[in-house]
Amino acid sequence: MGCIACHGLTGEGNGPVAFSLKPPPRDFTRDPFKAGESVEQVFATITNGLPNTPMAPFAKITTDDQRWALAYYVLSFRPHK
Ligand code: HEC
Repeated sequence: MGCIACHGLTGEGNGPVAFSLKPPPRDFTRDPFKAGESVEQVFATITNGLPNTPMAPFAKITTDDQRWALAYYVLSFRPHK
């Protein structure tokens, strides 16, 4: 899916191209999410992207099922409360 190039294998925002991005990707393991942290909000971010950032919409190249799986995967990097 290419997420790793920007977000890094471990979700810490340290992928190979991350240094060139403005704004840079956040560290999924620590930083608060800009667009919300519920699974529905993360799904919406992956579907629609974030306007005016390098985070593109992935609706066309992924299925709904894949994006739900990704949303849960992204949240699995969050610290356990
Ligand atoms: C071209 C680089 C790039 C790629 C590829 C990319 N992202 Fe992002 N993503 C970003 C950047 C940069 C941000 C942060 C934008 C900001 O700070 O507003 C972001 C933000 C996010 C967020 C939002 C967190 C929040 O604050 O709400 C999620 C979730 C996310 N990405 C998931 C993914 C997933 C899943 C994929 C693969 C399907 C992916 N990204 C692919 C660059 C990328």
